[in-house]
Amino acid sequence: MYKIGKYTESDSMSDLINCNYSILLVISRFGISLGFGDKTIEEVCKQNDIDTKTFLIIVNMLINEESDDISINSTVSIQTILNYLQNSHKYFLQFKLPNIRRMLKAALGDRDSNVSIVIMKFYDEYVMGVTKHMQYEEKYVFPYIKDLISGNDTEGYNIEVFSKQHDNVESKLSELKNIIIKYCPVEMNNELISVLFDIFACAKDLSYHNDIEDKLLVPAIERLECNNK
Ligand SMILES: [Fe+2]
Ligand SMILES: [Fe+2]
Repeated sequence: MYKIGKYTESDSMSDLINCNYSILLVISRFGISLGFGDKTIEEVCKQNDIDTKTFLIIVNMLINEESDDISINSTVSIQTILNYLQNSHKYFLQFKLPNIRRMLKAALGDRDSNVSIVIMKFYDEYVMGVTKHMQYEEKYVFPYIKDLISGNDTEGYNIEVFSKQHDNVESKLSELKNIIIKYCPVEMNNELISVLFDIFACAKDLSYHNDIEDKLLVPAIERLECNNK
């Protein structure tokens, strides 16, 4: 079975993953474990206490990456988006970025060529930037949203402050890809190919993460702010 169009709640979760393996990352961030047999997307979401509509919007955003047809007017579960984003931050900061660093170091070998040193320095600075970016969201944006949902005092902050300065964390990683492709002094080896694949995939994953914040979270919070006025 092959499907290009949007998925719905009655589609099988295993079909969704078989046709789009990148969804494996999404389901793990929602805390869904494998082993769902022939259950539908709705059944698996209910079983895991996840808002099905929000799950489907996030999944369809990833699958229809060319499409601007994002249901920004839909009612989404903000708590579901927050859980998803926080788990994504953990994935990038505690697993994916350190893992790429280890692979990159191994692929470049022991040689202390200037380009290898520059690549590692560039990567470390990049990770520092992503860490700062995500820490800001964890420290200011997410608590603000939780206060807004709970009806607590949110004086002095609004989502526009965040959306105006929210930059694209993926772009510098794309620069790193180019530095490696154009100037890497190491002979092509399997480790290098593998880490390059990982960097490409991680850049795409980070850009998708940004899209969820910009195109799904921010409009949902703007609507909530309007309603709370
Ligand atoms: Fe984020
Ligand atoms: Fe962000």
